[in-house]
Amino acid sequence: MEKQELLYVGKAKKVYSTEDPDLCIFEYKDDATAFNGLKKGSFEGKGIINNQMSNFIFKLLEKKGVKTHLVEEISERETLVKKVEIIPLEVIVRNIAAGSFSKRYGVEEGTLFESPTLEYSYKNDDLGDPLINYYHALALKLATKEELDQIADIAFKVNEGLKEIFLNIGIKLVDFKIEVGRTAQGEIVLADEISPDTCRLWDAKTNKKLDKDRFRLDLGEFGDVYREVWGRLTSFYK
Ligand code: TMP
Ligand code: ASP
Repeated sequence: MEKQELLYVGKAKKVYSTEDPDLCIFEYKDDATAFNGLKKGSFEGKGIINNQMSNFIFKLLEKKGVKTHLVEEISERETLVKKVEIIPLEVIVRNIAAGSFSKRYGVEEGTLFESPTLEYSYKNDDLGDPLINYYHALALKLATKEELDQIADIAFKVNEGLKEIFLNIGIKLVDFKIEVGRTAQGEIVLADEISPDTCRLWDAKTNKKLDKDRFRLDLGEFGDVYREVWGRLTSFYK
């Protein structure tokens, strides 16, 4: 399947149409942004790691019963995916307080929750992706009640799957963001990507940050920690 028209240029990837109207091709870039695109950076090979890691994780999640947009990896940086209508929600699950949760609610980073939290941001760059609740999402007609219930189920199922995957390689899953989409058949599936760009990952022993916070917070070793996580995954699961 060949790339045709460039449909969308995102912060970390480009999306192309293909000859099949139900399929798209993702092409991962080496770019990173933070704070709604205000901060820019990159490292050589980031797109390759995120493409391969996301596909690897999506395949493991599929085995645990999570439906995803993944069709097949076609090169180091490119993946064939089902074309979906992205629901404009950033769906965030947290197991441990960090980031905007700690800041907004004054909770010390690292505080373990008794049960995971679920929250939604309205995906809208002009508004700065504001936090919204279930009823706001309905009022904004972003999704139906049935779809929001399915999205919550997917989010918690992904959390259980990801926690296990990362625990196996000595990593605590602090929090993560997923996006979901509607297929041509109207099915809600996991879409976009799951990578150190979209998760907070701490080393289980040392709490070292092994994710995009190294870039957001200028902690250094940005590329090193992505290579570290990918190396641990491939050596555990090979
Ligand atoms: P937050 O603490 O900044 O709200 O982030 C929660 C999680 O969502 C964290 O794992 C990072 C991820 N995230 C994204 O993937 N994209 C974003 O634009 C933001 C703000 C967070
Ligand atoms: N991806 C978002 C942006 O570029 C923010 C983030 O991940 O922190 O703005």
